[in-house]
Amino acid sequence: MTQNPFANRPSAPSQTRDKTAEPEVLSGARSREVSGGTKVIVIGNEKGGSGKTTAAMHLIVALMKSGFKTGAMDLDLRQKSLTRYLFNRQKWAEKQGSGVKNLPFPVFIPVEASEDDSRARSKAIETERFAETMGRFADCDYLIIDCPGANTHLSRLAHAHADIIVTPMNDSFVDFDLLAKIDPVSGDILGPSLYAEMVWEARQKRAMSGVMGGIDWVVLRNRIGATNAKNKKRVGDKLKDLSDRIGFRLAHGFGERVIYRELFPMGLTLLDLGQGGVPRKLSSMTHITARQEIRAFLLSLKLAKPAKKADRQIEAA
Ligand SMILES: Nc1ncnc2c1ncn2[C@@H]1O[C@H](COP(=O)(O)OP(=O)(O)O)[C@@H](O)[C@H]1O
Ligand SMILES: [Mg+2]
Repeated sequence: MTQNPFANRPSAPSQTRDKTAEPEVLSGARSREVSGGTKVIVIGNEKGGSGKTTAAMHLIVALMKSGFKTGAMDLDLRQKSLTRYLFNRQKWAEKQGSGVKNLPFPVFIPVEASEDDSRARSKAIETERFAETMGRFADCDYLIIDCPGANTHLSRLAHAHADIIVTPMNDSFVDFDLLAKIDPVSGDILGPSLYAEMVWEARQKRAMSGVMGGIDWVVLRNRIGATNAKNKKRVGDKLKDLSDRIGFRLAHGFGERVIYRELFPMGLTLLDLGQGGVPRKLSSMTHITARQEIRAFLLSLKLAKPAKKADRQIEAA
């Protein structure tokens, strides 16, 4: 088991968090039964506005365009931005009529939060709903789960069942603070913080309950600006330091680009532009560099071909 990076801290997470904050997990056997080998990619960070939904949607479309049957689960039950993104896509496609062809859609199954008054019962109900919904994605190659910017029971469950966790973070020390605490005077990393603890707990729970495989954690720097090169370098250097200590990889990041905001109302991604009747340009700006950074991000995920995909190809042959 990986060395506990919290061991030297004055207050280890087990002492600082109450029991209800621990990520529950389905048993290994139950997990295998419900997921049926679907690769689960969880997009998470306990910070709103870091680019989770944007990254989730681009990943979903990229996987579909690569021929994978892809599922989408929205666990941000308050904002439901991924749900809205997909709804906008549906409406936009309908409005275009036959002008737009083959705009791909993922398998989407909504999950509802429990409204039971008892916290324990509510968690049990949500665990059951999560398992049941996961089961309905079993014929997908990939399942992308978009999480809220908060530590909820459903989000903890998703994290513990992830094969890959992708954490977008704004390129600033405000977002860095959710991964690690930094000494304000020396700039030294003092230890992991809130969100890193959640991933650590998810890894522990997963290992203990016998869910197959470990969790590959990938951090994605988002909204990297052309200006303030000094801050950019400092954040980059600190992230490199931290990645070895708490076990994540750094993916190719996304620049600060207005186009990401423009795409949401139409439900489109950069990868849809110029294909099947979708306009190549939404504004006067060129999106070539933006598309390149999405491709670089996908490459840095190092996604293996899921076994089931190969099975389907053999069946089709
Ligand atoms: N790289 C980027 N450049 C510019 N705007 C971005 C970028 N990434 C995300 N945004 C915008 O920031 C807002 C928050 O992004 P979103 O993906 O919804 O974050 P989260 O899901 O983490 O709350 C959205 O309006 C989105 O369009
Ligand atoms: Mg979101």
